[in-house]
Amino acid sequence: MSTDEARQSALEHYRQGLQVTPEQLAQIRDAFVREVQAGLRRDGHSSLLMLPTMVDILPDGHETGEFYAINFGGTNLRVLFTKLAKDKKQVELVEECTAEIPLEYRRCHVDQLMDYVAGQLIAWADHHGGGLHRHERPVIGFCFSFPVEQTAIDAGKLIHWTKGFENEGAIGQNAAQLLADAFKRQGLSVHIAAMVNDTVATLAGIRYGDGIDANVAVIMGTGTNACYLEQLSHIEKWLPGFRPRTSDMVVNTELPGFTAPELPLLDVDEELDAESNHPGQQTFEKLTAGLYMGEITRRILLRLVAEDGLFGGQAPDAMKVAYAFTTMHVSLIYHDESAELDEIGRILQEVLQLPADQTRTEDRKQVQEVCGLVAQRSARLMATAVTGLLRQLGRDGSSRPAQRNVVAVDGGVFAHFPAYTALLHEGIRDILGEEAAGLCSLKAVEGGASFGAACVAAAANNYMKAVGNYKPPSRNTSSHHVLSPRRPNTLEL
Ligand code: BGC
Repeated sequence: MSTDEARQSALEHYRQGLQVTPEQLAQIRDAFVREVQAGLRRDGHSSLLMLPTMVDILPDGHETGEFYAINFGGTNLRVLFTKLAKDKKQVELVEECTAEIPLEYRRCHVDQLMDYVAGQLIAWADHHGGGLHRHERPVIGFCFSFPVEQTAIDAGKLIHWTKGFENEGAIGQNAAQLLADAFKRQGLSVHIAAMVNDTVATLAGIRYGDGIDANVAVIMGTGTNACYLEQLSHIEKWLPGFRPRTSDMVVNTELPGFTAPELPLLDVDEELDAESNHPGQQTFEKLTAGLYMGEITRRILLRLVAEDGLFGGQAPDAMKVAYAFTTMHVSLIYHDESAELDEIGRILQEVLQLPADQTRTEDRKQVQEVCGLVAQRSARLMATAVTGLLRQLGRDGSSRPAQRNVVAVDGGVFAHFPAYTALLHEGIRDILGEEAAGLCSLKAVEGGASFGAACVAAAANNYMKAVGNYKPPSRNTSSHHVLSPRRPNTLEL
C-alpha cells in the first residue's frame, strides 16, 4: 500500500467510526429511553442512576431575599451573591469565578476540601456583598455536581466521585453537612437551604428568570449530565420520608453512566477507559464531556502519526502526555478559519511542541478534521439524551403534535465552544425532524447553575417561611454592589 493509501485508510477508520448516522442516533435514543424507564422502577436495572432530587417545587420568579451560592463540581469553583427582588429589573447578581481548583484539593481528605470551598466563599464575600458575618445566618444554595442520593432538598449522600475527584471520607456522607461543618470550623453558622446537582440548578435558573415551562436541563462542561421534571406517579423508587407538595419531581438522570450496546465505542475510547481512574464506569461521559474530548483527539492523532505518517511519523514527547491536549484546544482548532490554519500551527507548537514551520497545512487540516469529528460525535450523542427525555415527557412530537420545548443549558463547553450548540441542534434535527426541532430552543441563563442554586435555595427558604418553620436572615442592605439585571441569552435552534 502506498503511503497515501495508508494515510487515507487510518483517517477513514475514524471518519466512519466517529460519524453517527441518523439511524444510529434514533437507536441510541430508544436505548436511552429504555434505561430511563428501567431506572425509575423500584427494582429496575439501569445504567442510569435516575436520582430523585426531592425538588418538587421549582422557583417561579416570585422569590425574594438575599442568597449566596457555591457551585462546586468541575474545573472551577464559583461563588455568587444575589439579591432577588419582586421587580426582576432590581435583581442584583455578583458572581466571581475563582481560579481553577488546585490539583491537591482533588486528592486530600474531604474536610480539607470543604475547608477550602467554605474559605473561598468567606474570603470572597468579605469583598463582595459585605461579608458573611453581616447575616445572622447566611442562606446558601449549594450546587454539588456529583451523583448524590438525596434524602431531602438540603441533604444527600455522595454515591461516588467523578471528574477526577478522589477525596477520602466523602462517599456515603451528607455533602451539605460536610460543607456546613467546614463553615462551623471557621466560626460561621450557615443555612444550606438546598443542595442540588448543576442540572437541577440550571433548570431552576431558567424557571426563575423567565417563568418558562422548561422541563429539561443539560450540562456540558468538564462533566456531562441531564435532568428533567418527571411525574411523581412515574417514579416507582422509594422516596424516604418524602411528602409530596406537587405532582412532579426533578430527576437527575446521571447521564454519565449511560451505556448500551448501540453506543459507537472506538478503539481509542476503550483505551481511554482502560487507563482511566474508574474503568468501565461513566461510559457516556467519556464519549462526550469536556474533560475527555481533548484526550480522545490526542489519542486519535497518535494513531495517525503511527499509522498514517502524520507529522512525518514522529510523535513529539509532549504529545504522549495524557490529557495534555484539552477541549479548549479542540475548540480553538475547530474554529480556525485562516487560510494557512495559523492558529492550529500555534497550538501544535505550544501544546505539542511541534515547530510551526514543520507542520504542513495538510497535517493541520487533518488535525482540524479530527477535532471536528470528536466534537460532532459528542454533540450528536448529547442530542440522543435531550430527545430521549423529550420522548419520555411525550413532548418530542411522536405521540402528540410537536410543541415548543425549552432546554436549559449550562457548562463550559456551551460557553467556550461556540459551534457546539449548532452541532447539538443538528443532532436534534436529525432525530426529531425539522418541525419538532424548530420548536426546540436551547437556552442559557446568565449566572448559570450558580444563580440557579441560589434560586432553589430561595424557593426552599420562601416555602419554609410560608409554612412558618423559618428563621429569617438578618437584613442589612447597606453594602450593595452592582450589577446588571440578568438578561438570559437565548440560543434559538
Ligand atoms: C456528575 C454529574 C454532573 C455532571 C456535570 C458528572 O460527572 O456525575 O452529577 O451533573 O458531571 O457537572
